[in-house]
Amino acid sequence: MPSKPFLSILFLFTFLVNCSQPAERLEYQGIIPQPDQVTLEEGHFSLASKVGVAYTEDFKTSGQFLLSYLQVAGIEVELGDDVVFVKNDALAEESYALEIGPNHIRIEASSDQGAFYAVQSLRQILPPNYEARSKELKTYELPCLRIEDAPQFEYRGMHLDVGRHMFPVAFIKKYIDALAMLKMNTFHWHLTEDQGWRVEIKQYPKLQEVAAFRKETLVGHYSDQPHQFDGMGYGGYYSQEEIKEVVAYAKERFVTIIPEIEMPGHSQAVIAAYPELGCTGEEVEVATKWGVFEDIYCPKEATFTFLENVLDEVMDLFPSTYIHIGGDEAPKAQWKACKECQDLMKNEGLKDEHELQNYFITRIEKFLNSKGRQIIGWDEILEGGLAPNATVMSWRGTSVAIAAARQQHQVVMTPTSHCYFDYYQSENEEEPLAIGGFLPLEKVYNFNPIPEELTPEEAQYVWGAQGNIWTEYMPTTQQVEYMAFPRILAMSEVVWTNPERKDYNDFLGRVEKFHARLEALDINYANHLYEINGEMISDDEGAAYKLETLSKGKTIIFTLDGSDPDKESTVYTSPIPIANSATIKAQIFKGNKPLGKVFEQYINFHKGVGAKISINKTAHQAYSGSGPEGLINGVSGSDNRYGDKEWLGFWGEDIEINIDLGEAQEVECVDTRFFHSEGQWIYAPNSVGLSFFDENEVQLGKTMELEPYKNNERWFALNHYCSVPNFEAPSNRVRYIQLKVSNYGTIPEGKQGAGQKAWTFIDEIIIE
Ligand code: ACM
Ligand code: ZN
Repeated sequence: MPSKPFLSILFLFTFLVNCSQPAERLEYQGIIPQPDQVTLEEGHFSLASKVGVAYTEDFKTSGQFLLSYLQVAGIEVELGDDVVFVKNDALAEESYALEIGPNHIRIEASSDQGAFYAVQSLRQILPPNYEARSKELKTYELPCLRIEDAPQFEYRGMHLDVGRHMFPVAFIKKYIDALAMLKMNTFHWHLTEDQGWRVEIKQYPKLQEVAAFRKETLVGHYSDQPHQFDGMGYGGYYSQEEIKEVVAYAKERFVTIIPEIEMPGHSQAVIAAYPELGCTGEEVEVATKWGVFEDIYCPKEATFTFLENVLDEVMDLFPSTYIHIGGDEAPKAQWKACKECQDLMKNEGLKDEHELQNYFITRIEKFLNSKGRQIIGWDEILEGGLAPNATVMSWRGTSVAIAAARQQHQVVMTPTSHCYFDYYQSENEEEPLAIGGFLPLEKVYNFNPIPEELTPEEAQYVWGAQGNIWTEYMPTTQQVEYMAFPRILAMSEVVWTNPERKDYNDFLGRVEKFHARLEALDINYANHLYEINGEMISDDEGAAYKLETLSKGKTIIFTLDGSDPDKESTVYTSPIPIANSATIKAQIFKGNKPLGKVFEQYINFHKGVGAKISINKTAHQAYSGSGPEGLINGVSGSDNRYGDKEWLGFWGEDIEINIDLGEAQEVECVDTRFFHSEGQWIYAPNSVGLSFFDENEVQLGKTMELEPYKNNERWFALNHYCSVPNFEAPSNRVRYIQLKVSNYGTIPEGKQGAGQKAWTFIDEIIIE
């Protein structure tokens, strides 16, 4: 059936533009995510205050979006051929071509979704003031060009936790708008948590009355002891009407919402409302602090009846093929102590509680499959066997993703190391409180969702990737935006852009220009582009310190004497030679204008700087910092971010570090620190042995066992082993130093990550 052109909105009132105003010629500013092919052409297209648009039924949603978008900007739209939509069945589903010629803008796609992405690209070529009703609309001359574009991955997602903190419907829509602008197509809505249940389920009113509210909330960081609370009730939920409204809103933007209903863990709020669904039957409260809790669903018939009834209502609200059933961080202590659980295991021939979890998830999967739906679960669902059709969301590194892909299960990549936007994004100590970790923009940008261990056939099972926003430390929408932007821009390029077209420096230039659009959209983005990154480098000439800014076209000036840099200070042109301890202070200037904050770094030119170092294990690839040399480069890691380039992370391994000072010398002090942050599964070692050897590799004195971690601070320094104790031989004969670091071992029950291997993170080894 031929579809006829139509225009659904006609504007009766127009804003007439002052014709004497000169047209403004726009340069091509780049698009995020970077398209596959961009060809700039001669000439310009004149975009006036009245635009003619034509599209057929096939492009109803994308056409309507363009109309509304132009309407918001104050443009009058009429039926015409300034912007035309053309069906081209040779193009793949989400692909498009966009041509801006001197007389027409032409959008080609085989689907409405492809055309929608063409509209998003066109939008980014238009001036940022089109994002809000413009006060000074004029005629713009757009650069002529041709774009051909297609996504790299089918699943391009962002997650949002509304359990820990909840956000208004208007904000959820704003978040979906941002996803759509960046050509992302999946919103993973994390709707249930220990601290709150957020989706109305009509059959179970206590989910609304009890599970949706907590009596108070932890203040400050979880690691701050003793815990303090705000004493204020907190909660709420989305009504079914609101959910339907959001689902419809997302659909008009080609965003599928995958709801997450957590089980069997992270369900304390439900058990507070319905204690009979737990193993103990005891009353608990909706959680008021963060972490992992032992109260989990008991896999009895009443629980399955409850969950099936809940899921029936959830499926009525969410048409997505996929339903996320959680599956992460489910402590097994209560199942071990529960007679019903143990009897069930015997009857079903399940050998341990992991197999019981598999039984749980597989039963839910069968139920959802019978309704034509599929499950996604966090990667723990692989333990005890994988439910037959499950898609795995891989968050604890990549090894589970590799195992799942090899078992021919679809995987979505969202490892903590590259995709957890609740981590700090800058080393600046003034950053707002976050859960921990360190995930700067560049690390997100450089993420490759396909683990290198996979063969091309296995890699087919990598469906895509997603950024996660866990909101323990994000009570406001402004804070969510701050953590999401600009890292979401990098993630959009990770999932959309052909890796051959990715270029971090080019991306940074586009991000800087994108700021104006984010401001027009009233998005509270973080700006770390005007910060300075420093790095110790060393070669045969000795050590030097390199300074870099994240943005182009700026000057860096610096001092070495601790004074604040000003216009008279030295201009940085090449790495600064370092032969003594020094404090480097640096500042970016654009012309005469200082930008950003003063950068400061103390360099401790201790006896280990420039020595030789070896470690018998390779640091985890996500936390390999500046390599082993980074432990003796004179620069200590951040006090509260373990993921920077000065900290090295090892997962579950004992390590042996050997340092060769090059010649025998006096050593009075060896000092280092280990990070300790239980929420991130990072534990100071069980033991650290420190030994000294002379020129002939003969040990000097005895190996010293250093004190294990004992307090509750977020990080801790080993004691200063100055005036090296217990030396039987003169200490001026030290040539080799050895540290044997024994990993903490398995994380105990009741802690986050129970049953997992603990991480060891070590900082600079200072030798004096
Ligand atoms: C998770 O971060 N617990 C999936
Ligand atoms: Zn039980």
